[in-house]
Amino acid sequence: MSVKRSMLDVLKGEAVFPPPLWMMRQAGRYLPEYRQTRRKAGSFLDLCYNPDLAVEVTLQPIERFGFDASILFSDILVVPHALGRDVRFEEGRGPLLTPINASEIPALDGAAFHVNLEPVYETVRRLRARLPNETTLIGFCGAPWTVATYMIAGHGTPDQAPARLFAYREPAAFEALLKTLADHSAAYLIRQIEAGADVVQIFDSWSGVLDEDCFERFCVKPVAEIVRQVRKVYPHVPIIGFPKGAGTQYTTYRARTGVTGLGLDWTVPLGTAQALQKAGAVQGNLDPLRLVAGGAALADGVTAILKALGNGPLVFNLGHGITPETPVEHVEAMVKMVRSATR
Ligand code: CP3
Repeated sequence: MSVKRSMLDVLKGEAVFPPPLWMMRQAGRYLPEYRQTRRKAGSFLDLCYNPDLAVEVTLQPIERFGFDASILFSDILVVPHALGRDVRFEEGRGPLLTPINASEIPALDGAAFHVNLEPVYETVRRLRARLPNETTLIGFCGAPWTVATYMIAGHGTPDQAPARLFAYREPAAFEALLKTLADHSAAYLIRQIEAGADVVQIFDSWSGVLDEDCFERFCVKPVAEIVRQVRKVYPHVPIIGFPKGAGTQYTTYRARTGVTGLGLDWTVPLGTAQALQKAGAVQGNLDPLRLVAGGAALADGVTAILKALGNGPLVFNLGHGITPETPVEHVEAMVKMVRSATR
């Protein structure tokens, strides 16, 4: 069956213009219809585990803006939750977990992992059935390093100091944690693909705080392991890596993990992005605050990306998730600009 999903062509290395377009966190609080469903759902995790409501919020930005790709609505922290850790989301405080200690790591319990995540797989199956044929469905997981930072600190931190210290002080336990997370994340992505995901993305939101040695051991190695395990089962499904803040280590990351596409944050200079694009597709990298500001800040940002990266394989996106204060009209304006662009 031939279905035109332009994002898949781009991930094969083709230049498509205007480029396919979606936004990280496209289902979220900037949308009034999301806030309405969110109120009905109970807790945030209840929303992630309710296929009726998770499908509804996933489809909201597709119905409103006609994006080329739809990302499953869930969260990266369902993985530690499915491994038996206590995970909560509190209004205004973000995620809260019971911090894990070294002695608890060998006891992480994967026995009910897929049973616990079955509602997510059901959401993916229903999405593939409901989405327009030409819309790419993206599954995802957090990278082991980023997930581990939350498991260790118990909450978000500005510099991930608790996880970095833990890694220095308890290297064997930390390595075991990354390995467990890599194995379970790979199995999780494989099930999402089985359920209908066309592409998977690995979010490494906190890879920007590591020195060269730790970047290699905590970011590159576990992600390379996930890529290896997923490719063994699904050799042709594209994998996007998003090592946010990786800076000059983006090149190493692409080469050593073997990801198909590279998500770029907004601090990556467009000249560097052009060099990275020579090795394969890139995704990004508009500063989400240009989208909040709108006007010339938005127009200039969009134009610069299309000019620098539009002749190669590009998936247009933000350099990180959309923020809740973003006016919906600015998203409409961005979509219009990208869709009506000429070379
Ligand atoms: O539309 C989509 O992109 C799909 C859904 C999605 C969510 N989280 C929904 C969500 C995805 C892909 C994520 C990934 C995620 N979750 C990451 C990696 C990407 C990134 O943003 O860096 C991380 C680090 C998390 C962990 C997480 N979840 C945090 C730190 C927070 C609180 C911060 C915040 O924005 O409130 C969440 C909560 C969360 N995940 C919300 C949404 C829509 C907001 C909570 C709510 O609606 O009540």
